[in-house]
Amino acid sequence: MSLRRYCGMTAAVSLGLCLAFAVGAQDEGAPVQVSASPDMEPAQTTELTDAHGPAVAGDAAAGAGKAAACAACHGADGNSVDPQYPKLAGQSERYIARQLAMYKDGSRQDPVMLGFASILSPQDMRDVGAYFATLKALPGIADDSTTEDGSKFYQVGEKLYRGGDLERGIPACLACHGPSGRGNPGSMYPALAGQHAGYTARKLEAFRDGQAWGKDNNRNTVMVDVAATLTNAEIQSLASYIEGLHDAAEVAAQ
Ligand code: HEC
Ligand code: HEC
Repeated sequence: MSLRRYCGMTAAVSLGLCLAFAVGAQDEGAPVQVSASPDMEPAQTTELTDAHGPAVAGDAAAGAGKAAACAACHGADGNSVDPQYPKLAGQSERYIARQLAMYKDGSRQDPVMLGFASILSPQDMRDVGAYFATLKALPGIADDSTTEDGSKFYQVGEKLYRGGDLERGIPACLACHGPSGRGNPGSMYPALAGQHAGYTARKLEAFRDGQAWGKDNNRNTVMVDVAATLTNAEIQSLASYIEGLHDAAEVAAQ
């Protein structure tokens, strides 16, 4: 699908919206990319333990070669075309390395990724992580079709992403994943911006069902608490909002 974007930088920043007209898209109405304000200071967290073992900081150049096998599913530029595979472009080195370590030790279960992670050493994991971190995530489009109550489909998700729901104890997603969805490399909060909605929705459903990855001290249950009370409709809307979320200034500069 070819996209023509109309994204005045100043207007996009001040309105927080960036319109993208998809040529030949099947949805009714103009699909929307949802852009955001600049990222805030990182939140402080305790460091998790795995994938840091003997490996030194990743080397993106070495990682490029080691990532050749990944392109078939995750895309040559880290932006997978097939939405069943998550985008890795722009994801942080340590988050990627940690996920690969968990696939390898089986604490994050996926039969396909088990095979690919098993052949990687801790250093390989950091190198491929460093490589994908250098690539740019391409934003998708949020579904702005009008719902029964007259709001746009992505707006329920936008509200939760930006403000959470105090009464239900749901924190704003941006507190950890950043206003523009870039995540927080230091704390290993993954980047979400532009991710395929289907993948995001599947992960949120799994978190809601109590699935957390990692063993013992390395088990990170934060998303299980965050997602506990999300409805299916909220998950779909959040996933759509996140697919269209991007840094307005970065896209305007491309
Ligand atoms: C045959 C297709 C395929 C190939 C090749 C492949 N992956 Fe994956 N990858 C997947 C699928 C499917 C998932 C989602 C699994 C899940 O839901 O946990 C995934 C998930 C991931 C994730 C987790 C992403 C996230 O946001 O949490 C990482 C990291 C990853 N792959 C890295 C790699 C690397 C590095 C390689 C190459 C060494 C690779 N993959 C090769 C199919 C593939
Ligand atoms: C307190 C910090 C925090 C908050 C708030 C938070 N998250 Fe997360 N999120 C995380 C962490 C940490 C992970 C990675 C978990 C892991 O690796 O085990 C994560 C993972 C995810 C993933 C999986 C990403 C991937 O690539 O597989 C999605 C999707 C996600 N969060 C969406 C959300 C949404 C939507 C909200 C708001 C409703 C939210 N998060 C609020 C910390 C947070």
